[in-house]
Amino acid sequence: MGKDEIIVGLDVGTVKVCTVIGELGEDDQIEIIGIGTAPSLGVKKGVIIDLDQAIQSVKQSIENSERMAGARINSALISITGSHIASTNSKGVIAISGESPEITERDIEKVIEAAKAGIVSPEKELIHTLSREFIVDGQSGIVDPLGMSGTRLECKVHIITGSITIVQNLIRCIEGAGIDIEEIIFGTLASSNAILSNAEKELGSMLVDIGAGTTEIAIFIEGGLAYSAVLPVGGNQITNDLAIGLRTSIDEAEKIKINYGSTVENIVSPERVVEISSINGKDKHTVSKKYLVEIIEPRVSEIFSLVRVELKKSGYYDMIPGGVVITGGSSLLPGISEIAEQVLNLPSRLGGPHYEGELADMVNDPSYSAAIGLLSYATEKYSIGRSYKISKRKTGLRNFFGRIISWLKDFF
Ligand SMILES: Nc1ncnc2c1ncn2[C@@H]1O[C@H](COP(=O)(O)OP(=O)(O)OP(=O)(O)O)[C@@H](O)[C@H]1O
Ligand SMILES: [Mg+2]
Repeated sequence: MGKDEIIVGLDVGTVKVCTVIGELGEDDQIEIIGIGTAPSLGVKKGVIIDLDQAIQSVKQSIENSERMAGARINSALISITGSHIASTNSKGVIAISGESPEITERDIEKVIEAAKAGIVSPEKELIHTLSREFIVDGQSGIVDPLGMSGTRLECKVHIITGSITIVQNLIRCIEGAGIDIEEIIFGTLASSNAILSNAEKELGSMLVDIGAGTTEIAIFIEGGLAYSAVLPVGGNQITNDLAIGLRTSIDEAEKIKINYGSTVENIVSPERVVEISSINGKDKHTVSKKYLVEIIEPRVSEIFSLVRVELKKSGYYDMIPGGVVITGGSSLLPGISEIAEQVLNLPSRLGGPHYEGELADMVNDPSYSAAIGLLSYATEKYSIGRSYKISKRKTGLRNFFGRIISWLKDFF
């Protein structure tokens, strides 16, 4: 198995680390050959707070995926999340100089630099510079201006940055687990590749990934990422509310949430009550399922109220007829999509990976959206940072990515 034929996605989440190993087959299709998860220790709200513990969790997840794949891995694409992530839209403008008015690679680099100027500060690490469009002599909507004629080149970009310290800790963690980092990718940007269709991105849609410690938001307008944000809330808050309301432990509350939790009362269910172990673990008491809904529904509504605040802040509220797509482990909560519709007043659906290979049953879980999305991200075309990095790589790798692009076309 050649090195270039393996591609790995590694997502360090608040509750689990997930490693996915894909193999590029002779038919140019990616086959997922290994998936390994491990409980995430030393991670809070998507951010590493204990390096040693986090390294052990990453190692365990990698070992589990390697065991399933029967292959060793030495590098991976890594996702990043956390409320330290900031994003902004910016614009650069340059005059095309030189004898002929043909736009060169150097001009494109210069206009991107101009768009980045003043945005990146010393305490911020640049994670992505995503092109939204190029404008040549007033002509907008250009995806790639290379070779075009013009005298004035403008570029609209979406820039994503993160805290340098937090990014460095993630790098230390992954490298500490013996893995070379191919690239660090914003989690929801990765998820969007596995979940949103190109049509949804073109039409205007919002992806909301609700994990355990974070809720990540990404708004796509005219095919490109136009707004992103990470809120420090998620399924853990729902579990905490249940633990308090039911006077039980966090572990018991988590089990109750997974097995019986809902945002709507199931009126056809024959069982109306649930048995709960009290905090000391010895006594038991019962509560009605209606009571669970009374605890869960307000918290879920609150999470979407926070999403609505971001959506209003973005200025794109009226520009997402494609609606809202909810993913992440917490999207498994029954009735969550209906709550999103009520609070956001937009059409909403649930989304998870839709892989069709042998491990589909295992892989197509919304809590794996980011890890699976990392594999598809290898095909990202509109990431300027990425395309330049790829073009600087050795030819073998460039061919490799070219082949993946053809796989993606078949896959989606
Ligand atoms: N069936 C279910 N019903 C309700 N909640 C669920 C269900 N299954 C998982 N969850 C919740 O999903 C959350 C975990 O989601 P996920 O695996 O996407 O998180 P993560 O990626 O580790 O965290 P984050 O993205 O916040 O860093 C937990 O809070 C868990 O309780
Ligand atoms: Mg996650």
